[in-house]
Amino acid sequence: MPPTPRPLTIIVATTPIPTPTTTTESSSNTPIRLGIGHSGTLPWPRIKTDMSFFARVTSRPPAPGTINAIIMGRKTYDSVPAHLRPLAKRISTIITRDVEGLKPRVAREVEDRKAKLAASAAAAAAASASGGNGNAAQQQQQPATDAIVCGGLDEALQELETRYGEGKLGKVFVIGGAEIYGAVLAKGAGGLGGGPVRIVMTNVEKKGYAEGDQGEVFECDTFFPVDEELFGEKEGWRRVTPEEVTEWVGEEVTGRWIEEGMLGCRWWGMNVNSMCTIED
Ligand SMILES: NC(=O)c1ccc[n+]([C@@H]2O[C@H](COP(=O)([O-])OP(=O)(O)OC[C@H]3O[C@@H](n4cnc5c(N)ncnc54)[C@H](OP(=O)(O)O)[C@@H]3O)[C@@H](O)[C@H]2O)c1
Repeated sequence: MPPTPRPLTIIVATTPIPTPTTTTESSSNTPIRLGIGHSGTLPWPRIKTDMSFFARVTSRPPAPGTINAIIMGRKTYDSVPAHLRPLAKRISTIITRDVEGLKPRVAREVEDRKAKLAASAAAAAAASASGGNGNAAQQQQQPATDAIVCGGLDEALQELETRYGEGKLGKVFVIGGAEIYGAVLAKGAGGLGGGPVRIVMTNVEKKGYAEGDQGEVFECDTFFPVDEELFGEKEGWRRVTPEEVTEWVGEEVTGRWIEEGMLGCRWWGMNVNSMCTIED
């Protein structure tokens, strides 16, 4: 029997941006776009709850000895602070039109990052040996950190299977930005090997937005390529229950709002199954 195609999970945080197309449009039917970025970074101040959710979900391997991959555009890779690049315990898979130009820099960054992670693992092992709390064994079982550079989405998926498949590749996430989300959505499940395409989306709002204070939005210049109202059964999308998202991500997701400072965030998910394609 052929292997079951691997799900591809888009993970994204969005904020609603009402964008009137005519001056006569009433605020109740103003189209909502989903903002994801501004000036090469996120539109909102750091949301610790969401960042740690992202880190846990994308780095937690589905089985011991496996490692997850995160696929991203070169601009998203460069938006990660230099001292955190490439993100630990995952295979960063960077898409660029300048593969040969980018490879040497990424190779250097991988070596630097691995050296720093090894040093902190050694320090933690030494500390746990003196304290005898068993953390050293845990450290050794952590997934490795790596990065590859590819010329496109198909090449990235192929390269991941070739290099890491064979029981070593865990979950595969697409972490942005807009150009790469767009490439995945344009191909759809049918164009990506037939595995389901899933979206795990964090909604981010300023407090007061839901109560009608729609002046309180973030400034955005980069948007998720599908607007909120376009998600629907007609386009092949199905909104899933929090229980299903919980199963996808490996930890409890309730869909309820969580407040952090002046911001609120919540997670929900959508899924297109392998029989659907995304069409304009
Ligand atoms: N809210 C969120 O969850 C989230 C997540 C990720 C990113 N973001 C934000 O999104 C913004 C970045 O998004 P973006 O759309 O501008 O950039 P992006 O998708 O991260 O990267 C674009 C780059 O990817 C490469 N690329 C794109 N299509 C390609 C193709 N068909 N073949 C080969 N290479 C290709 C090109 O790299 P080269 O220029 O090197 O050729 C291109 O410049 C930032 O503001 C970031 O903070 C937000």
